[in-house]
Amino acid sequence: MDRKEFFRQSFIGLAVLGTTAGIAQCLGGCSSSTAPANVDFTLDLSASENAVLRTVGGFLRTNGVIVACVAQDTYIAVQSSCTHEGATLSWQQNNNRFHCPEHGATFSRSGAVTNGPARDKLVSYTTTLNGTMLRVTS
Ligand code: FES
Repeated sequence: MDRKEFFRQSFIGLAVLGTTAGIAQCLGGCSSSTAPANVDFTLDLSASENAVLRTVGGFLRTNGVIVACVAQDTYIAVQSSCTHEGATLSWQQNNNRFHCPEHGATFSRSGAVTNGPARDKLVSYTTTLNGTMLRVTS
């Protein structure tokens, strides 16, 4: 093996090692989602595009946040991407939880992990209802 071939083989070996280490890390529960920061937006609940939030159990995703109506005039909001590998979450009113369809992680109303493989909690946001205007803030 000449010098050039040696370096080529070494480079390939290192690349394989790096990839393997990355996969092993993710099998342990890598976190690839990013929660939005400095959130501040308002939803007009009288608008047709937000009508789903007028029903208990209804939810929508916007600005990287999932907003759910959990009771009459009561709303919660957390980041919409799973902390495991970033899949998009849904709200399950009957189970009182956020659910990730990708690998089955679940989160409480406040975003705490209630079932893995996710290990990190969701970032939650403050919701303030004023008439029909629902403000969501960090
Ligand atoms: S992406 Fe794996 S549990 Fe959500």
